[in-house]
Amino acid sequence: MAILMLRACTVSTLSKQVKESNVQQRRWINGVEGIAYGGDYNAEQWPEQTWTEDIELMKQMGVNLVTVGVFSWALLEPAEGQFDFSFHDRILGLLDDAGIGVDLATPTVVPPAWFWKQHPEARVVTKDGVTLGHGSRGMASPSSAAYREAIARVASTLAERYGSHPAVRMWHLHNEYGVPISECYGDESVAAFRAWLKTRYGTIDALNTAWGNLFWGQLYREWDEIDAPRRSGSVVNQSMQLDFSRFSNDQLIGCMTIERDAIRAHSDLPVTTNFMAGETDATDYWKWRDELDIISNDHYLDAERRDNYVGLAMAADLTRSYANGEPWVLMEHSTSAVNWRDRNIAKRPGEMQRNSLQHMARGADAIMFFQLRASRFGAEKFHSAMIPQGGTDTRVYREVVDLGGALKRLTPVRGSRVRSRVAIVWDRNSFWASGQEWHPSIDLDPRERTNAMYAQLWHRNVTVDFVHPSHDLSGYALVILPQLYLVSGESAANLARYVDGGGTLFASYFSGIVDETDTVPVGPYPGQLRGVLGLSVSEFLPLYADQAVQLSGGGSGTIWSEEIKLDTADAVQTFVDGPAAGGAALTVNRVGAGRAYYLATALHGDDLGAVIDDVLGAAGVDTASEVHRNLERITRVADTGEAYEFLINHSELDYAVAVPGAIDELITGEAIAAGTVPVPAGAARVVRVVR
Ligand code: GLA
Repeated sequence: MAILMLRACTVSTLSKQVKESNVQQRRWINGVEGIAYGGDYNAEQWPEQTWTEDIELMKQMGVNLVTVGVFSWALLEPAEGQFDFSFHDRILGLLDDAGIGVDLATPTVVPPAWFWKQHPEARVVTKDGVTLGHGSRGMASPSSAAYREAIARVASTLAERYGSHPAVRMWHLHNEYGVPISECYGDESVAAFRAWLKTRYGTIDALNTAWGNLFWGQLYREWDEIDAPRRSGSVVNQSMQLDFSRFSNDQLIGCMTIERDAIRAHSDLPVTTNFMAGETDATDYWKWRDELDIISNDHYLDAERRDNYVGLAMAADLTRSYANGEPWVLMEHSTSAVNWRDRNIAKRPGEMQRNSLQHMARGADAIMFFQLRASRFGAEKFHSAMIPQGGTDTRVYREVVDLGGALKRLTPVRGSRVRSRVAIVWDRNSFWASGQEWHPSIDLDPRERTNAMYAQLWHRNVTVDFVHPSHDLSGYALVILPQLYLVSGESAANLARYVDGGGTLFASYFSGIVDETDTVPVGPYPGQLRGVLGLSVSEFLPLYADQAVQLSGGGSGTIWSEEIKLDTADAVQTFVDGPAAGGAALTVNRVGAGRAYYLATALHGDDLGAVIDDVLGAAGVDTASEVHRNLERITRVADTGEAYEFLINHSELDYAVAVPGAIDELITGEAIAAGTVPVPAGAARVVRVVR
């Protein structure tokens, strides 16, 4: 039975693969054989004799790629327009001699002290009017002319000198755009915001309409009356706030493309910048991805959560989705504890390897850390590293060496792909809009709903892609809208087309409430989703903080209820009690060849799981017949048809897992007998499968 189901799943998954026509074929790191392995190498913090030692240790660890120069601007350009290449020349030369590739960073995340002295106007002004100082890190105002000129100069100079250096394998632009600075409310930013609005709306009348400026008498007559949405007496115009988030994202993209274009004038090596998928609210990465050759991501565990591997899996799936399913780079994670949380819990033995292989299972072909050698000074001296403060006679170092060996043995996995039949909609515009004040309940939280739905799928070993609601959805059997507050006309039409064509949609409450200008469409909620869901909502009935309502299916809902008027939809479950007692709580609408489910309250844990099981069943998505608790199971499929099944045991139990067609296990090198793979507690295994 299990064999048949696995086979069926693989074949249908392959045939339903989504292809995005507008996304370029991505490139990969030049000249790195096998899986890339290494980390940020901030060599400038160390004397040269340590570099020699580091390089020897890199060989021992199996490192083949290091990121160099992220924070090196002050060394590289000691005075405006005067460059000193001695650090870069020496370190790149040594790395090249050792055959270690370099991911060369533009150092634009920390301008030098002289820059701030000469260009104080480039400093960031916060929403509260505070002008930020330096002495830390985080970028200048993304709209600053002086900063933009400086980054073009630095990127171009670096690329001219090192664009064909034999050690350099790729370019790393900046560092985590949007973190810790994503918005600026200074004069140059306000001027740039006005110009951005002019391009978007053309006329001031169009802007007044889009922003609903008749409300609270906010009409503008001239463009220069418009300010940034800085702190004000009450809630600032929400459409304006939404546009300011879009504008701020575009300004960061503008800075990134200045650097990219300056580099491309001298070098044809692939270009990336490290995302923080799912972690930063500032960036709409769907808009960034097409500007880059390689997608890379930084991920740090939520160390205080014992099931933080579920969040890791979600960030990795999101990154793979940004990469359109192609291999991506895990640019940073930690060997053990970070230094910036309230409680910096160390990773336990084996955890780092499990984390690394989770990323790889979900499409990463490069496993990198922050950082290679722990800093002795500065704000990050308590952050773990590949070479910790304790040196090489430490558990962490030994595990790093072991991981390097394991990744070498996993070379055949490189380039294979993950397939999924289920997608969760992820739209930063909707997150921005729904995060604003004065909404019907403070408990409305689309991220919480996304995490909750993702977790249920994770526990069923259902692999998930993330999609924008305007993407081609036709390759998915099931598309989930965890709480898509903002839906554009284009996206609503796309979702309706998807269902009509045979897809299954599962939407939660508070979806489709506003359009892209944060305006409620004429008529009852849920606006543009009324047709596809076959219902309307007469009244929101949010719950008390401690209230739970019973559903006829036995589950218990919190946060939300509402009065639903069924149009073409049927009630699957009703509210048994609470303000919506007797009304529909879970509905289904049959449209064309597909169906759309709607859930009007927040279910949790097994209650949510039971509904998801039904929806998966209706969509024809097989869940594995054999689920081992907290055993993560993902398959990567190569063009040859050979598959690699990752089995990652986060539990404290030893498992024996049936893997039909298993030939051997790549980490231990063991042959597999009778299609059963032993996966001890805490272990990770990668099984080669031929079907
Ligand atoms: C971020 C940064 C790194 C470092 C790490 C520490 O991801 O990019 O420079 O500060 O955090 O966790």
